[in-house]
Amino acid sequence: MKYKALENLKANKGGFVSGECISTELGVTRTSVWKYINELKDEGYKIKSSSRKGYMLADIPDILNGHEIRYNLNTQILGREVHYLESIDSTNNYAKRIASLGCEDGTLVVADLQTAGRGRLGRTWDSKPGKGIWMSIVLKPLITPAEIQIITLAASVAVVSGLMKTVDIVCGIKWPNDILLEGKKVCGILTEMNSEQDRVNHVVIGIGLNVNNDIEDFHGDLRKNATSLKIYSEFSGISNKMLRRSDIIKSILEEMEKAYNLIRKGETKNIINKWREYSVILGEEIRVISGNREYTGVAQDITDHGKLVVKDIDGAIYELVSGEVSIRSFN
Ligand code: BTN
Repeated sequence: MKYKALENLKANKGGFVSGECISTELGVTRTSVWKYINELKDEGYKIKSSSRKGYMLADIPDILNGHEIRYNLNTQILGREVHYLESIDSTNNYAKRIASLGCEDGTLVVADLQTAGRGRLGRTWDSKPGKGIWMSIVLKPLITPAEIQIITLAASVAVVSGLMKTVDIVCGIKWPNDILLEGKKVCGILTEMNSEQDRVNHVVIGIGLNVNNDIEDFHGDLRKNATSLKIYSEFSGISNKMLRRSDIIKSILEEMEKAYNLIRKGETKNIINKWREYSVILGEEIRVISGNREYTGVAQDITDHGKLVVKDIDGAIYELVSGEVSIRSFN
């Protein structure tokens, strides 16, 4: 109910709404309205109170909750069901559990804190409260397990496009799905699927995006290899007031839904082309680490199925499948 009061204030943002008006609208007492307003203030909403004029929503800082994610979300499938959790081991684990129990296609799981966030290749993912977007999307595409890579590529394209639209920050993609800002990793994607031999039951796309981290939040190698939107904004003089996690999540969901609709129609060319446009490694010299083998080559292209085509120094051509290799770009 307190979010209904908030919606009232949002509809009149910058102007006062009387307590009486809200209480009539919600069908509750004015004391209840006062209680909701105090709860909203405790959550961090900047609300001015005046005994004569009522309440005014002055500002919405970076507050993450189910209401903020759903509010004005322009999608039909993704995020229509949202599970917001203050703390969880891993949103991917949670998403896999609810997917097995039969949750809706497009269900979103978001947590403020992950106590055991997981990265690719068995790594851990640092997911402190208030610092980033730790979320997982459950999808149920009618594709075969061999086609799964397109989902991961689509997710990385959606993150880059979403960031451009909401915060005007231009990132690049390092194959298969690391999102880089000025050469440092700002976002990683962990796709996990549950499938049978020729049918995917569900896919969980886990997205970890560093938003509010300060340099001191990164330790060891991460300090030179990782970054956040906040760190980037401070260096480039962009106001970090724009960095509202719920707005970024909505934008990523909207972009991902466009891609998902293309995948459902079998029209994946656009996704691959966008991926090529955002790639920071095509044409570059890279180091490939695949099992015990390490070699240097030039990233030439990605195939329609999302394999990275690499030419090594002897001219041999390899098609790499993600999950099995790790690459390092030299730029
Ligand atoms: C990577 O190694 O680059 C992938 C990192 C993926 C992290 C995200 S955070 C939300 C979701 N839950 C997890 O446990 N991992 C993914």
